[in-house]
Amino acid sequence: MTPAPRAPHGAQDSALSQQCAGAPAGPPLLDAARRLAPETVALRRALHQCPEEGLDLPNTQGLLRDALGGLGLDIRGGRTLTSLTAVLSGAADGPTILLRADMDALPVTEETGLPFASRTPGLMHACGHDAHMAMLVGAARLLAERRAQIAGRVVFMFQPGEEGHHGARHMIEEGVLQASGHTADAAFALHVHPRLPAGALRLRPGPQLAASDRFRVLVRGRGGHASAPHTTCDPVPVACEIVLALQTMVTRSLSTDDRAVLSVTRLAAGTATGVIPDTAELGGTLRTLSEPTRTMLHEKIIRVAQGVAAAHGARAEAVVEPGYPVTVNDPGFTDFVVRAATGALGRNAVDELTAPQMTAEDFAYVLQAVPGALAFLGVCPPGLEPHEAPSLHSPRMEVDEDAIASGIACHAAVALAFLAGGATEPTP
Ligand code: NI
Repeated sequence: MTPAPRAPHGAQDSALSQQCAGAPAGPPLLDAARRLAPETVALRRALHQCPEEGLDLPNTQGLLRDALGGLGLDIRGGRTLTSLTAVLSGAADGPTILLRADMDALPVTEETGLPFASRTPGLMHACGHDAHMAMLVGAARLLAERRAQIAGRVVFMFQPGEEGHHGARHMIEEGVLQASGHTADAAFALHVHPRLPAGALRLRPGPQLAASDRFRVLVRGRGGHASAPHTTCDPVPVACEIVLALQTMVTRSLSTDDRAVLSVTRLAAGTATGVIPDTAELGGTLRTLSEPTRTMLHEKIIRVAQGVAAAHGARAEAVVEPGYPVTVNDPGFTDFVVRAATGALGRNAVDELTAPQMTAEDFAYVLQAVPGALAFLGVCPPGLEPHEAPSLHSPRMEVDEDAIASGIACHAAVALAFLAGGATEPTP
């Protein structure tokens, strides 16, 4: 895609300044989205106060069902999870685009001190999914008002269980990609990002987010008295050596064009200082940006763990549990989103994401089946520089609610342009 000129800090299309009294009118969809602000911000706050976790989110589903009522959408709940799928049929026939928002919260105790903070101890919308839902409801409203000019269908996919519960995969199995009676031709999602300027849109062709997999290694040695290690097969130094060998393995396995992150985040052994234990355990996460690299590193994790253990006469049982795949943006659709979003938000709001992020998203499953893209929407809170903002998943994560209008306008612009035939051909 052709990146737009980069805006200096705080100079993105003035999503904020245009709201000042007397400011010139912004692009039409953004202005329309801003007029919805009272209801979309109220919905976001209502959702924020009542976070739910996992695949069973009945209260969240109920709030969304109420908010989507009266728009003339065909609304259906999931069979095995509390998803919600709403279909808007335009005045004429045409293609189908799917827009997604995720619904679930995180096991985090909120520390923002906001008046609408979570009322559920131990749960918080710390990943911004409350804003995602409010933005997609707002987009549904804008698009429903423009039904007469729509040729085709819009599927609004409200998805539980993004935070490690594979909710998107469950919804695909339940037929969300065919919810309109036609297989979706394209798919789009937004994810808020507190470390980008409010209202800024960032995406890139190819990998936008990483695959995320977990690994566990159990080292089996032979315990004994700590004063006589020569009579044992001590698993503790073996586990330590495996940690270092895994790090070396990653640096020696990848070309400089490729990237991966392997972090050992758990290490456990023993119960007493005087006893060499029988076993030691370690575990961590692997993040990769391509399926060949992912497969190669899975094999090497197991080989390194088993090989190091064998060198010391111990045994390692190593497993890699696959998580979400790489989130890959279709290059042609990404270029199209850049053009549609630039029209809706202004040239300075849209830019190329310079490098993939090593977090993961289960929208990856949708993008494996349908050409599309996921984009980040900046929501840096007012008064902070982006690098100072508490990150996603932080108990202090906050969203600049003025950016919600940008998200609504972006969703609506992408859908309207796609259904008007503005999409470029998906790039193989
Ligand atoms: Ni998230």
